[in-house]
Amino acid sequence: MEKFSIKKLDKAFDVEIDSIASDKSISHRCAMFSLFSDKTSYIKNYLTAEDTLNTLSIVEQLGAIIKRDGSSVEITPTSKLTEPKDVLDCGNSGTAMRLFCGLLASVDGAFTLTGDKYLRERPMKRVADPLRSIGANIDGREDGNKAPLFIRGVKELKPFSYISPVDSAQVKSAMILAALRATGISKYKENELTRDHTERMLKGMGAKLENDDEGFINIHPLTSMLKPLNITVPTDPSSAFFFAVAAAITPNSRVLIKNVTLNPTRIEAYHVLKRMGVTVNFIEKENIYEPIGDIEVIYNQLNAVEVKDNISWLIDELPALSIAMSLANGKSKVCNAKELRVKESDRISAVVDNLKLCGVDYIEYEDGYEITGGTINKATINSSGDHRIAMSFAVAGLVCDMNIVDTQCIDTSFPNFKELLDSLYK
Ligand code: S3P
Repeated sequence: MEKFSIKKLDKAFDVEIDSIASDKSISHRCAMFSLFSDKTSYIKNYLTAEDTLNTLSIVEQLGAIIKRDGSSVEITPTSKLTEPKDVLDCGNSGTAMRLFCGLLASVDGAFTLTGDKYLRERPMKRVADPLRSIGANIDGREDGNKAPLFIRGVKELKPFSYISPVDSAQVKSAMILAALRATGISKYKENELTRDHTERMLKGMGAKLENDDEGFINIHPLTSMLKPLNITVPTDPSSAFFFAVAAAITPNSRVLIKNVTLNPTRIEAYHVLKRMGVTVNFIEKENIYEPIGDIEVIYNQLNAVEVKDNISWLIDELPALSIAMSLANGKSKVCNAKELRVKESDRISAVVDNLKLCGVDYIEYEDGYEITGGTINKATINSSGDHRIAMSFAVAGLVCDMNIVDTQCIDTSFPNFKELLDSLYK
């Protein structure tokens, strides 16, 4: 099992970083959405990490011609998607598996979606059930809830009006992709807006998606192929957040993270850091499907915070925030975050179990935790195969020595993470 050690950083840093991993959510969508055009899509700065490279391979197995030169990718789809000769391996990615369910539900052919041992334990009913209710033919292990999932594409999907019981951009996106090929206008509603890359990108490609007064997205079926994508993928704010926390916990430090998506549904964790006392500045520079710019984070003494709203806007950053909470003055609390239990690992257990090893006091709840801030002590922590757990505790290593076991998973989203962390010592 791969592992590494982080040594306490005994100095302040002031750095500008422009090589943080590209956005994972947007990269997956670039690869998949290119299949809704009949022209070549040009994608620069595609995330070349395991998860998104798997998605690219799946798109290729579905018949698209892919030319890749580093992070520059050209995708030319065939006029009709081809039935793959092998299973489609989504690796560790819930986004890939769930979005492909919606995309493939009405494609002629048989498709088996599988993934690594972690993904095969994650719930898929949240997409399979609503898709089945509109006519999709999807089956899987454990009564159709777990991968491998088997999809036999159907000729027609019924239009729907669906209020999702779970606030999930993956479910929303799967249903929107299915709706594009349904036989009439579909309606989708979520309680809380989740990340909206799918809506923004598809609208940019010419799809007709409208928000009505009752909070539904009305999705019109496609009447023709969409415009191809021409996009430079911005930096991933979730990956960048590890370096935001690094600056927030290292006295007198500052980081400027370049060209990040400033989509409000993705930067809520930075606002939480601000509430904790850290200086955070957003410098918007351009708008390509969504606002993009730089984020500056400057150290300050951290104060405790309560996080209970807009949970889907910071769900991926909660493990890293737990490190900032552990070093803050007072008791911090996270609630309404039950979804953390069904991420790449049970992130509530993974966070509190590892904090315990580091000597941090906490109370675990079904939907979150309370953390008593103070100090973090050296420990040997296990990532549970979860990239965000591994990277969060690696960042904690900046204030005390830390050993991280099972670090291979970092390659699913942020292959140069360790290299960038090491550069803070120079
Ligand atoms: C994602 C949506 C979120 C997020 C995941 C990426 C996406 O998952 O946690 O890392 O790209 O749509 P849920 O939709 O399950 O909340």
